[in-house]
Amino acid sequence: MADQDNNSLMRLSLRLVAPLVLSVAVVSLIFAAYQVRTQDRTMRRDLERRAEVLGQSLQDDFEREISAKTPAALHRTIERLGHRDHILGIAVFDPLGNPLGSSAGLDFGILNRAEQFAGACSSDSGCHEFIDAGTSAQIHIFALPIRSDSGLVGSLALVSDASFIQESTRRMWRDTLVHAALQTLFITLLALVMTRWVFRETITRVAGWMRSLRMGKASAAPPDRSGILAPLTHEATQMAHSLDAARAAADEEARLREAGESMWTAERLRVSVLGKLQNAALFVVSNREPYLHVRDQDGSIRTIVPASGVVTALEPVVLACDGTWIAHGAGNADKEVVDKNDHVRVPPDNPHYTLRRVWLSKEEEDGYYYGFSNEGLWPLCHIAHTRPLFRPDDWLQYQRVNEKFAKVVVEELRGTESPVVLVQDYHFALLPRLIKEQRPDARIAIFWHIPWPNPEAFRICPWQRELLNGLLGADLIGFHVQAHCNNFLETVDRALEANTDWDRFAVSRQGHQTLVRPFPISVAYADPRHNGDLHSDRAATRRKILAELGIDVRYLGVGVDRVDYTKGILERFWAIERMLDEHPYYQGEFSFVQIGAPSRTNIKRYSDLLVEVREEAQRINNKYKSAKAKPIILLERHHDHHEIERFYRAADLCLVTSLHDGMNLVAKEFVAARDDERGVLILSAFTGAARELGDALVVNPYDVEQLAGAIYTALNMGPDDQEKRMAAMRRIVRENNIYRWAGNLVTALSEIRIDKPEKVEA
Ligand code: G6P
Repeated sequence: MADQDNNSLMRLSLRLVAPLVLSVAVVSLIFAAYQVRTQDRTMRRDLERRAEVLGQSLQDDFEREISAKTPAALHRTIERLGHRDHILGIAVFDPLGNPLGSSAGLDFGILNRAEQFAGACSSDSGCHEFIDAGTSAQIHIFALPIRSDSGLVGSLALVSDASFIQESTRRMWRDTLVHAALQTLFITLLALVMTRWVFRETITRVAGWMRSLRMGKASAAPPDRSGILAPLTHEATQMAHSLDAARAAADEEARLREAGESMWTAERLRVSVLGKLQNAALFVVSNREPYLHVRDQDGSIRTIVPASGVVTALEPVVLACDGTWIAHGAGNADKEVVDKNDHVRVPPDNPHYTLRRVWLSKEEEDGYYYGFSNEGLWPLCHIAHTRPLFRPDDWLQYQRVNEKFAKVVVEELRGTESPVVLVQDYHFALLPRLIKEQRPDARIAIFWHIPWPNPEAFRICPWQRELLNGLLGADLIGFHVQAHCNNFLETVDRALEANTDWDRFAVSRQGHQTLVRPFPISVAYADPRHNGDLHSDRAATRRKILAELGIDVRYLGVGVDRVDYTKGILERFWAIERMLDEHPYYQGEFSFVQIGAPSRTNIKRYSDLLVEVREEAQRINNKYKSAKAKPIILLERHHDHHEIERFYRAADLCLVTSLHDGMNLVAKEFVAARDDERGVLILSAFTGAARELGDALVVNPYDVEQLAGAIYTALNMGPDDQEKRMAAMRRIVRENNIYRWAGNLVTALSEIRIDKPEKVEA
């Protein structure tokens, strides 16, 4: 195997290096030829010039001596000058070409050639000729006519040795070729080392890593995150995750079949949704989008999954049938990544459904989202003693935005038959009716993720009738718990002319019927066996977290919330303070980590709360100063699921103290994360989750004393008790997971009879 690897690497190296070597050699040769030619030409020209200068300087002497017919003087001049530099000899001829005198050293053959050449030269500036004389000798002849006033009196020939030019040219060729050879050798070696280093090393590492992926360790960190193989490792990671998920799903399915269990899984949901919808297209509408694209400071675009239970809950459904999710495009780079229809395929790493973004102006967002939804409906439904604000302008924007979304939904529904539309939450109370009016064939459900208050509380909303009318356009309205369904029906009873059927939990109005049902939302509940190294040593995770936080305590608590006044964050701080007052032993031994994602901070109540939370944490920390611990550690940013899970696993207790909450998924996430069946959940009685998780320490968060007592109880609870409670809660969350929630919702909706209208708008 290693030999084979070596051979292939050698072949690859040769394939890369051979063209390189060839090009270097060709370029060196071309360059050498050019240099040699230039030098040859320069040296010849130099020799010619010197011969010309000498010839012309002799012209007068020879003319005089020929004309005076003084052969002795002529011979003397010839002998005197005939051996300078490279000159081999001089010959002088009469006009008929007969030699008048020549240097003694000139051999006959050369003299003969010089005679012919001189006879043929008629140019006054003289003529040049280079001739080969034997293997490595070359001779240059310069002929010049000699004239007197009366005309041509003869000619002279200067014969020079030009062999030095050839010699120098040869030397130059040799040197250049040696250079080129050395250069080529050096580049070859360098290229071989580089390919070995870059490819062999990297490929070997990447191959090792891919092998570990294949063996099922999908969480192994890729060895080449930013190098040349980064795109490949990224794709391989995705593929490994998909493989791992498929393998996990198959294992789980097989296990469940074997055990005869009826647990819901992502795969079961997929099969169920496809069967129930019978190819009907599925659409989800929510205010918060599942992925936001944001531009970082370095200019790159990154995706964020927002802190919203709605996103966690709905994505598996849309993924199951490649549906379309319609939401407000709120990321600052959202517009840059959509196509001309405002579509983008998501999840970014493994696109399986379409996200359709709807753009809102600042005015619309202020009125509809911050104003009516979050300063009006949110406090109205939560009854957390923050006064709801109902401003007519906000109401106007709420209506406009609902209409805008309705237009987009209808546009997306075009071409589909009996589509399924799942509308989410209090941002879209008017939407079901607006869609139903245009697409009566559509099956529409709205899920209200927050509580529904009693009729007395709801009636303070000046537009309660309009909201109820809008909601009743749906075929199915879902709440987390039965109590909210009851409140809703009572509200309808009191506010509208409608037929409420308490036996079937349905409302009939203007010939249309709406079912009202509880669907307790949940979390995915991953099987710990498939969570890779996250579920490794809990003690190690805890040590690491403590080191990161710079504390050294025996007991650790955790709370995870958006910083919202409904979550009872201050109440839990006060209870921690109280517990530390009453049990000084825990001062310096207990730290509580509050993960607080800032939320809706454009609303004064929220930004004030953020300041208040910070100040209270500071005050309590100042009160119990210790070198190794802080009672409250506030981590004020959005943490992703993976980051949060570490805290869940490391903590001794989790505090969920909402003053009012539809469900609260943090409670279920904490339970799902504790595969060690340890840890204590302290849970507000005013959450939907408290109805399912009776084995938590259920508290009234307004009762600081009771809450402090629960913290103390949790810190002192023995492992057996912890295990018993946690195991029971885990069974409930496992059975009633998010897939069951989605499956039940889709099943209920698919079972409703929709009276098909005669004409369906295409
Ligand atoms: C609650 C609501 C969701 C909302 C989430 C986050 O869970 O039911 O609809 O998305 O809070 O709030 P935000 O205003 O940031 O979307």
